[in-house]
Amino acid sequence: MIGKAMDAVFKPAARVLERNYMSALGVNNTTALARAYNSLRFRNYHENRKRWYRDSFSELIAENGNPVTPVNEMKDGWVIDTSGRLPYLGELLKESSLIIDDRGGEKHQFYRRPFFQDLFTDDYFPRCPSILNFATSSDVLSTVCNYLGFIPTLSYSKPYGVRLIESWNKFDETPDAQPRESQLFHLDYHDKPMVYVIVVLREVTMERGPFCFLPKSVSARAEIGLGDYHTKKGGHRVNDEKMYSVVPESELIKLCYPAGTVLILDSSACFHYGSRNAVKPRHLMMFAYVSTIRTDFGDIVLRNMRYPVRKEDSRLRRMVLDKEY
Ligand SMILES: [Fe+2]
Repeated sequence: MIGKAMDAVFKPAARVLERNYMSALGVNNTTALARAYNSLRFRNYHENRKRWYRDSFSELIAENGNPVTPVNEMKDGWVIDTSGRLPYLGELLKESSLIIDDRGGEKHQFYRRPFFQDLFTDDYFPRCPSILNFATSSDVLSTVCNYLGFIPTLSYSKPYGVRLIESWNKFDETPDAQPRESQLFHLDYHDKPMVYVIVVLREVTMERGPFCFLPKSVSARAEIGLGDYHTKKGGHRVNDEKMYSVVPESELIKLCYPAGTVLILDSSACFHYGSRNAVKPRHLMMFAYVSTIRTDFGDIVLRNMRYPVRKEDSRLRRMVLDKEY
């Protein structure tokens, strides 16, 4: 109750701080402030989630259903699974296809990024159970939690924890313009660390504007080389010329893979971009896992996505779906 009132009082200031990629104070200062604020509100949950991971993770996993595939390990901030054997993956591809057929190829969102839209809406949760089953499966959560060292929650706000992204320059009035927005290198600032699980829904080739990233160690070198990244002066986006003046382009990894490939990546530690020159559409399911003490004010200023929780859900699944569990 007090927390909600605090949020209401703080909301106008949070809006100003978030505006234009946290440009008022710079990303580094704003994320530190957001961490402090969210810790006041949600530190207890975070401490519990660290403890649950440290002391009881195998028990939680057993209750959630033991992994059915060898557990992937993120190395240098990422791992790609090409086995096609992760649980619920087949259903996820089928159910996502229904959403793409329903809503793809038409413009539903008109703000900021004309080349990028989210086709997912909350009413698909009951109709497409594989989406949350996949996101909360022990196979996926083992990899994510082993990397993070705590039990995260699916993000309630930007980036929403569940998105079905269609990127395509068909809706872009200036498709030949220089890369802009998320077509430029950046590190996500919503939390640190945070994990994206990205499922390739339909095969991605170069003409579909693949998601591209630099491994964590290369990104760390880049950050040092850039010098002022995420300061008020250095800003949030980095063009290729600047990036490749500090690290070689040969380090770039492009997610050009067949349907069913899964990339698990720390988007706060690996510089990334995507959706460039997508002359054909690209379809990815993107799950975002964050802590309860995230480093932005997204949950205060934006519409929150909520995830359906059932009585019979395991404790691990509930923690991932409900940030106040
Ligand atoms: Fe990003």
